[in-house]
Amino acid sequence: MVFRPMLLLNIGVVLNSFVALALAGNFNQDFDITWGDGRAKILNDGKLLTLSLDKTSGSGFRSKQQYLFGKIDMQLKLVPGNSAGTVTTYYLSSLGSTHDEIDFEFLGNLSGDPYILHTNVFTQGKGNREQQFYLCFFVDGTPIREFKNLETNGIPFPKSQPMWLYSSLWDAEDWATRGGLVKTDWTQAPFIASYQNFNAQACVWGSNNSSSCSSNSNNSNSSTNSWLTQSLDTSGQARIKWVQKNYMIYNYCTDAKRFPQGFPPECSLA
Ligand SMILES: *[C@@H]1O[C@H](CO)[C@@H](O)[C@H](O)[C@H]1NC(C)=O
Ligand SMILES: *[C@@H]1O[C@H](CO)[C@@H](O)[C@H](O)[C@H]1NC(C)=O
Ligand SMILES: *[C@@H]1O[C@H](CO)[C@@H](O)[C@H](O)[C@H]1NC(C)=O
Ligand SMILES: *[C@@H]1O[C@H](CO)[C@@H](O)[C@H](O)[C@H]1NC(C)=O
Ligand SMILES: *[C@@H]1O[C@H](CO)[C@@H](O)[C@H](O)[C@H]1NC(C)=O
Repeated sequence: MVFRPMLLLNIGVVLNSFVALALAGNFNQDFDITWGDGRAKILNDGKLLTLSLDKTSGSGFRSKQQYLFGKIDMQLKLVPGNSAGTVTTYYLSSLGSTHDEIDFEFLGNLSGDPYILHTNVFTQGKGNREQQFYLCFFVDGTPIREFKNLETNGIPFPKSQPMWLYSSLWDAEDWATRGGLVKTDWTQAPFIASYQNFNAQACVWGSNNSSSCSSNSNNSNSSTNSWLTQSLDTSGQARIKWVQKNYMIYNYCTDAKRFPQGFPPECSLA
């Protein structure tokens, strides 16, 4: 999908796994609104969710299920026009002090100036793996970042803690746009972000602390389960390189000032 005035985007997160349980998306069934005092709304029989931000509060939601592995799709329509000072977050987290987490944060900007997509990966409570990109390319189907399983090198991989999916829209005018130089224009409020076409092909964590993906899944449907065998082929690798060369504006693996003792081990192994 194109990143133009509509700012519509499909976000995919793929984690390797065993078996899949395909879910049809309905926001009433799949999500709880967690905060915002009425500013988050589920509309159109569960097909659309909107978050809203005004000077008093932002809003947010969380998945009812936790996912251990999967391919998770969502279409996001970011705050249009002057979104400076606003941040739309979209992330998976297992919570707790040794949490695993995969973050996407969309930092708003003045009309016509590019959003920044800020990303991070936490394993066993340790993050500090930021990469940032300008959002002025086709995101759909274009991989932008890969976090390899390097457990044999002693680097934890997020594969044993199920994660909830979270999203929120909030005000961060102190730092979001040009490091806080550009403030939120509250005359434009309320700011609205919307969500549709949620689809999780994922292993769902059960109430008895086990992943129930094998028992209920429809393994016979090879097209539904195609994500299981999906991997980055050479053209995917080439596209990541292209995005990183042309749109990446920050990479922790090249920030020598930040790591005077040497870069984290995954930087040289990736
Ligand atoms: C906003 O646009 C300015 C000017 O192009 C750019 O320097 C900045 O990185 C952009 N994004 C954010 C979130 O500040
Ligand atoms: C609990 O876990 C077992 C596997 O350890 C599974 O067979 C069973 O269906 C699960 N029960 C529920 C209610 O999720
Ligand atoms: C599931 O794990 C949590 C956290 O370790 C624990 O508090 C809870 O008792 C466990 N539940 C079952 C059914 O084993
Ligand atoms: C598996 O797929 C078939 C054919 O689409 C469907 O009828 C059946 O309900 C599915 N089973 C489960 C458990 O999803
Ligand atoms: C398999 O899944 C795909 C995608 O969800 C769906 O279009 C197709 O109808 C399914 N086929 C069967 C036999 O269930």
